[in-house]
Order: sequence, then structure tokens, then C-alpha cells
Amino acid sequence: MKIAVLRERAAGESRVSASPETVKKFIALGATVAVESGAGVTASISDEEYRAVGADVTDNPVAGADIVLGVQGPDVDQLSGVNPGAWIVASLDPFTKRERVDAYAAAGFEALAMEFMPRITRAQSMDILSSQSNLAGYKAVLVAANLYGRAFPMMMTAAGTVSAAKAFIMGVGVAGLQAIATARRLGAQVSATDVRSATKEQIQSLGAKPIFVENVAGIEGEGAGGYATEMSEEYQTAQAELVSSHIAKQDIVITTALIPGRAAPRLISDAQIATMKPGSVIFDLAVAQGGNVEGSVPDQVVEKHGVKIVGYSNTPAHLPADASALFSRNLYNFLSAFWDKEQGKPVLDEEIGNAIRLTQGGKVVNERLLG
Ligand code: NAI
Repeated sequence: MKIAVLRERAAGESRVSASPETVKKFIALGATVAVESGAGVTASISDEEYRAVGADVTDNPVAGADIVLGVQGPDVDQLSGVNPGAWIVASLDPFTKRERVDAYAAAGFEALAMEFMPRITRAQSMDILSSQSNLAGYKAVLVAANLYGRAFPMMMTAAGTVSAAKAFIMGVGVAGLQAIATARRLGAQVSATDVRSATKEQIQSLGAKPIFVENVAGIEGEGAGGYATEMSEEYQTAQAELVSSHIAKQDIVITTALIPGRAAPRLISDAQIATMKPGSVIFDLAVAQGGNVEGSVPDQVVEKHGVKIVGYSNTPAHLPADASALFSRNLYNFLSAFWDKEQGKPVLDEEIGNAIRLTQGGKVVNERLLG
């Protein structure tokens, strides 16, 4: 059983899919591990560290590989020499990279999309969306704080009082919860909103103020797997009104709202930005999925009405060492949980296998892609 770890090719991708810690653990399971030269450099891991735990560091790690690990999915031309039927395990972005999924099928690979991992208790330690969103929520607040020309905490000094920044977090999933906690730690006055009413208590337990649409019938906002659903027109109007009155008083806004398989919901319009104080900062964590904020541009700081709007297309890649360590553990936790000692390889069960497997036997097999 040979596992190959690739150097990432995508622009701006600084993470790596295996750490020396997980390489060592894969070897302890009985696998051999080949790491592409320089794969860890941008995440502060040297080739030497991989060699020290027993990896073969090479320019051609994929020759004869049974499992190929990546952060983002590799193109098929990077996979020549990989064994037929091999697993490609990464964040495969199947909806936007559909052609690549078809190419995996045509090449006979079994592509496993880690972002399709079901949100069930036993899969929590394998969940790349959670591990990476948590870091993204943290980083978004730090970046916003850096661009903000004032302080976060209230300070009473001999020269006068500096008032606390007001931060508003829109979307309280994994990233939003960490953004609330981080903004609070920095001393901001924090409020937050979500469409899922279950988040109200979570917001309060972190010491922030919930801002919720009330009195619109039939809203729970929660669909399958604990994810948000698209809201009714009535709700959207009520939400826009609520946000308009609240946002004008905010200094920092972090938006994180996503709906799986769809474009991100638009939460802030240009007209609403115009009501904010000059010098305020908005960080749009959904910018790569179409954006929650009108006018946000991937990997740019745009200024509109004196308000800075920031969006990183790949926020976890701005914390490459921690993001890689957690991503690598997610992959190890996944593969080791299914490791069959007798066969010396992982064997998936139906629940998780059917959820994440995109291709098998030359065909696209995942129902989310077939529908
Ligand atoms: P996400 O990244 O899909 O979305 C971020 C947040 O935006 C969500 O809270 C969503 O409700 C909210 N949102 C969507 N549309 C909105 C709108 N129009 N206005 C305001 N907010 C909006 O969510 P994430 O972080 O993946 O978490 C979703 C749920 O899954 C949470 O309940 C989380 O606790 C749960 N979860 C369960 C796991 C497990 O059991 N293995 C692992 C991770 C998360």
C-alpha cells in the first residue's frame, strides 16, 4: 500500500495534505509514503522532516501509488503511473471542477471528495470543512482588525477614552462561532445573526448579542445535515430591513453565510455599505462562493463609500502551518478509521463511502452529481 503526498499546484495554495506526524502514523499502519519534494515548504515543513519519519521524498511520488493525497484535487496529468483503481483523496470541488471529476472516472480512479463527508458524530474528526472554517473565522477577524484604523477594546487612558469596536458576525456556523470568539477576545462588542434559530443560544453562550428576524412564520432555517436552507422571500425582506438598521452602527462585519451546492446568499448591498461609517471593515468569507457582500472581489481589498471590503479566496491558506496540521489529521483519521489490517488497506463502509465517492469503475457514481 503506497500513499503519495503531492505538492499543491493551485495558485495561492500553501497547505500540504500530510504532516510528518501523519506520515509516521501511516507508516505505523503498514503503508509506505512518498512525499513530493518541497511539498511542505510553504507550510513550514522541510523535506528533511518528512525523511526523518521514514517518507521517501521524491520528484515522482505517484509512481505505483494506491492512494494519492492532496489539499485540492490534482489534475489527471499529474497522476500518470498511479495504480488503476487508486483513491484520490482531497477537497475536490466537484461542482465547479466537474470536468476533472469526469477525467478521474475516465482514468479509472476512485475519487473521494473530503468536503462531502457527512456531518455525523463519528465523522467529526474527518471533517475538513470544520477544521478549515474554524481557522478561517479566526483569521478573518485578525485581518479586519489590522485594516481597521482604530482599536478593538475600550481603553481608558490619560489622554482620553478609546471606545470599543462593534463587530457583527453574519452566519454562525463553524467559522462564525470562531469569529465571534476571536472578536470577543480582542475586546470588541459583538453581535451575530443566522437563519438557523438553533444558533441563538450558541451566540449568547459566547457573550455576543443575537440579532434575529422574529415573527416570520415557519422559519427554522435548518435543512438536511444541519445546514441552512434558502429562505422565503418574506424572510429575506425582513432580514434585509433588520440588517440595514443594525449594520449602520457597526465598525467590523464578518460574513460567513453559505448554502451547500448553491451560490452564497447576498446579505449586504451597496446601499447598506453606504450607511456605514467610513473606516469600517467588512470581511467576506464567502467571496469564493459568489460572496455575501455586493462588490467584494476575491483576494482584493476594495474600498466603497470609505468602507474596506476584504475577501480571501482561500483564507485557511493564510495560516498554512496550522491549517495543514489539521487537514492532515482529518485525512489520517478518515483513512485509519477504515483500515483493514488483514487486507493492509482501507475499506469504506456504505454510509461514508456513498457520501464521498465521486467516481468508481470508470463512472461518476455520486448522487449529488447525477441528480
Ligand atoms: P456553512 O459553512 O454551510 O454556513 C455558515 C453559516 O451561514 C451557517 O450557520 C448557516 O446557517 C448560515 N447562513 C446561511 N444562509 C444564511 C443567511 N441567509 N443569513 C444568515 N446566515 C446564513 O455552515 P457550517 O459551518 O458548515 O455549519 C453548519 C452546521 O453543521 C452547524 O450547525 C454546525 O454545528 C454543524 N456541523 C456539524 C458537524 C458534525 O456533526 N460532524 C461538523 C461541523 C458542523
